[in-house]
Amino acid sequence: MTISQASSGPDGPRPDPADWRALNRAMWDERVPIHTGSGFYDVPGFLAGAEVLRPFELTEVGDVDGRRLLHLQCHFGQDTLGWARHGAAVTGLDFSASAVAAAEELAREAGLPDARFVTADVYEAANVLAGEVFDVVYTGLGALCWLPDIERWAQTAAAMVAPGGFLYLAEFHPVTDMLGDDGRTVEYDYFHQEATVWDEPGTYTDYVEEPQITVSVQWQHGLGEILSAIAAAGLRIEFVHEHDFTLFPRFAALETVTEGVTRVYRFPEGRPRVPMVYSVRAARPR
Ligand SMILES: C[S@@+](CC[C@H](N)C(=O)[O-])C[C@H]1O[C@@H](n2cnc3c(N)ncnc32)[C@H](O)[C@@H]1O
Repeated sequence: MTISQASSGPDGPRPDPADWRALNRAMWDERVPIHTGSGFYDVPGFLAGAEVLRPFELTEVGDVDGRRLLHLQCHFGQDTLGWARHGAAVTGLDFSASAVAAAEELAREAGLPDARFVTADVYEAANVLAGEVFDVVYTGLGALCWLPDIERWAQTAAAMVAPGGFLYLAEFHPVTDMLGDDGRTVEYDYFHQEATVWDEPGTYTDYVEEPQITVSVQWQHGLGEILSAIAAAGLRIEFVHEHDFTLFPRFAALETVTEGVTRVYRFPEGRPRVPMVYSVRAARPR
């Protein structure tokens, strides 16, 4: 994986991290048709009935039948609709209008017309949803690195958890962000707080045409920072699970293992492991 910090933008000077929202939204808008057409997301397989949610998420979230579920940063809604197939009354929210349009189209094609999708910045979610609350507020893998302020995210997400409901977060483990591609060497600062402007080719899915927009602004958030923010937002942390697998070939040594319908990546037998994914459930007491 070639990743470099941007010294210049596509057309000149270094992009300003203060423009993170516009820069990131443009990048995500462009990624939507690339991702919906990718083998990674396999939309035809989903439409044919394949399970898209990871087994650990299904186990840890539990029965969602008849429950109100809000998916923050839902991308083009495939995972959101996966929860709808398990009986949840779903709302997906994303700041990319093209992602939301693709999600609405996918809901129609999947025969799930009651799924609702909303275009909004995650920080505006509680305002846009006008005080609505949900039994499950779900955030899936690859979401928090796009957000500058984790305390504000946690407060926003917690405000939408109904009494007796919970926030469920599954994310890539921040330990993986400090290691080099060999999965052993500490190359990056775990505690780095500043925005990082990345200029990286491609995207995490397969693609036919190279994406044109390569600049994005991202943040690292440590596990302690995230868990403390969730607790400070008034939720009671029920568990934090650290997993020894990930969902993409983050390190050169990882081996692909197919577990049920999910392809995961693990260190080979005998090699010291690091946590690569974590999941948290945090409840609002009744
Ligand atoms: C990696 S995707 C989430 C992936 C999701 N787990 C999946 O595989 O479908 C990240 C999503 O966050 C959205 N996003 C990034 N920043 C956002 C923000 N500030 N407000 C709302 N959505 C945002 C992007 O548009 C994108 O759809």
